[in-house]
Amino acid sequence: MKLLYTLALGAAVSTALPAWAAGPTSPHDKHAFISNLLARMTLEEKIGQLRLISIGPEMTHSRIQDEIAAGRIGGTFNTVTPSENRPLQEAAVKRSRLGIPIYFAYDVVHGHRTIFPIGLGLASSWDMNAIQRAARVAAREASADGLDMTFAPTVDIARDPRWGRTSEGFGEDPHLVSEIARFTVHGFQDGTPNRQGTVMAAVKHFAMYGAVQGGRDYNVVDMSPMRMYNEYLPPYRAAIEAGAGGVMVALNSVNGVPASSNTWLLRDLLRTDWGFSGVTLSDHGAIDELTRHGVAADGREAAQLAVNAGVDMSMADALYRDELPGLVKSGAVNISTLDDAVREVLGAKYDMGLFADPFVRIGKAENDPADVHADSRLHRADARDIARRSLVLLENHNDTLPLKKAGTIAVVGPLAHSKVDMLGSWSAAGKAAQTVTLLEGVTAAVGGHARVIHARGANIIDDQRIIDYLNFLNWDEKEVVSDPRSPQVLIDEAVAAAREADVVVAAVGESRGMSHESSSRTSLDIPESQRALLKALKETGKPLVLVLMNGRPLSLNWEKENASAMLETWYSGTEGGHAIADVLFGDYNPSGKLPITFPRSVGQVPTYYGAPRVGRPFVEGKPGNYTSQYYEETTGPLYPFGYGLSYTEFAVSDVALSGSTMTPQGRIQAAVNVKNMGDVAGETVVQLYVHDVSASVVRPIKELKDFRKVSLAPGEQKLVQFDIDANMLKFYNAKLEHVAEPGAFKVQIGLDSTTTNEAGFTLQ
Ligand code: NOJ
Repeated sequence: MKLLYTLALGAAVSTALPAWAAGPTSPHDKHAFISNLLARMTLEEKIGQLRLISIGPEMTHSRIQDEIAAGRIGGTFNTVTPSENRPLQEAAVKRSRLGIPIYFAYDVVHGHRTIFPIGLGLASSWDMNAIQRAARVAAREASADGLDMTFAPTVDIARDPRWGRTSEGFGEDPHLVSEIARFTVHGFQDGTPNRQGTVMAAVKHFAMYGAVQGGRDYNVVDMSPMRMYNEYLPPYRAAIEAGAGGVMVALNSVNGVPASSNTWLLRDLLRTDWGFSGVTLSDHGAIDELTRHGVAADGREAAQLAVNAGVDMSMADALYRDELPGLVKSGAVNISTLDDAVREVLGAKYDMGLFADPFVRIGKAENDPADVHADSRLHRADARDIARRSLVLLENHNDTLPLKKAGTIAVVGPLAHSKVDMLGSWSAAGKAAQTVTLLEGVTAAVGGHARVIHARGANIIDDQRIIDYLNFLNWDEKEVVSDPRSPQVLIDEAVAAAREADVVVAAVGESRGMSHESSSRTSLDIPESQRALLKALKETGKPLVLVLMNGRPLSLNWEKENASAMLETWYSGTEGGHAIADVLFGDYNPSGKLPITFPRSVGQVPTYYGAPRVGRPFVEGKPGNYTSQYYEETTGPLYPFGYGLSYTEFAVSDVALSGSTMTPQGRIQAAVNVKNMGDVAGETVVQLYVHDVSASVVRPIKELKDFRKVSLAPGEQKLVQFDIDANMLKFYNAKLEHVAEPGAFKVQIGLDSTTTNEAGFTLQ
């Protein structure tokens, strides 16, 4: 147990006891401690605790210090160094009447200073240890910067790649995303997030944000409860069961009620059914937006709806400050409702260890150890290792890859040497200058044994309207840097480089801003400027290796037909260039698998492997009418969920089951032998899917229920065994009862979601 703050800090920071520490309270008894503190707070101080304020142009440091000293702020976000945070915490602890510490939050989504691959990339590793390690590193770095909470993980299931925030989450699958949610929370919090090296996780965006209509950000979500419970809610619940201390409320409405005023979501489901006992935060300005959703007539009603629905803290607006005093006095908001919200905020601070020591993460020293330009604090080895696990080999014709470290290699494309894009969106305190590009990675890897030449070849996009939009996104580093020369001049230069080379490596895709908040698209194609470059490169007849950088599934039909090899690298982070080079040259054998389906065209969306069954399914090889399909296009995805190649081949045996019937309390083992048929070592992901043959309601075609990442030496064979119990067969039925219905099931085990390698059993 921690000592009292005053004992822990001694005289170095403060000689005066904060008022909250002077009473007959013990930090060993959270409940009594908070009740005691609450009893001594004025209405204004209580309301102050409910405000989470962004520090930026609209709220300067000196102004905020006065606000904090007046007890009008509970927490802040967007400061990222101890020297920025220290004066704010001192204002809270030394100058406010009760000395209640504030907390510091930030969007530490895929790394803090060391940037790891974006969410889709992390998910592509299917490697829970790697994912937990990335979160641990991020927590250590964020904590060293004085941060107490991260607005992460983002566990919104995404099945419409038009949605720009597809990049941030972990893909389409309830089971995979739930597993990642759990491991990420453990990585951030490492047990209880009450000490240095840990941060509290605030899972987001609760709920169903990934299902916005048409993939248009901030749009409505309209969904059957059964689908919510079976497919969209499990990841949030998994994060909460893993102990996430916070929940960020989504910006969208859910079946007609905005999440921020949704009592069912925030009280009935979250608190009553799931037993969540942490703090809820609105998203940025979301309470104010209740008037624009059209459910509140004005700011006063918006504040009333939000607090009554269960939004404890309001992010980045003044509505709680301005409206709650009147609302409480008039009785429109019960004082006990307000007290409950304050209790959650104080409870979160308690859990963060801030009452034991408000400077637990900021540190005692006055000097700021964080030199934002220094490399010394980066966890580069972890970043490289985790990034290479996130790369997915989509094509490799005639063993084009791995490349030899010899001859001449042309590294071309607008993303070949774009440091800022390597970071991906929501890259926290990551610095573009510290990242390794593909060009740098390849150059370092060949170490003088091959000649590396470079030409940009194209701009990411030529449409000025889109460039203006991307540059408008409020990042401090300029988003799209365009070469002013004409497209033809750029292409000619790249073609000349290609002609000189033995192989062309072209980095193409999207700028990071194209897959970001609010960046929804109507097309999933690679922008025309880059397509033209690729066509010109193809005409040179040189082997063409595509290195894709993008934050959503793309419709890569031309690329699939014409590339000699294709590697999906997402946005791979600080060490991305080295990690990609490791794979290109075979120093690491790719093992990533897609966590989301790649459609053939935007018109096919949504495409996800676990779709509900239909009465007239399309049957391959039976061109017929009156089945569920689009007649203009081949049915099925371009690349299925779970897919990814390796430099070796793996063979999977038939599925063996330990029995053909299972009792409700029993279990069955399903096993396969997996063998590495090639002559290089490699890793693959063995995936277990369950198909419920007949049920009381329409069920998905198949559902991922378990997976195992296995590593095999050349020629090695391993038995991979999964336990199946009734719990794994349960689903929410039409009455929202969580049941396993007796009957026939099929178990499929393979290396992607198209596997038909199956065996059956009956649940009694
Ligand atoms: C808005 C985003 O929707 C959310 O994900 C983020 O955490 C907040 N802004 C704070 O930056």
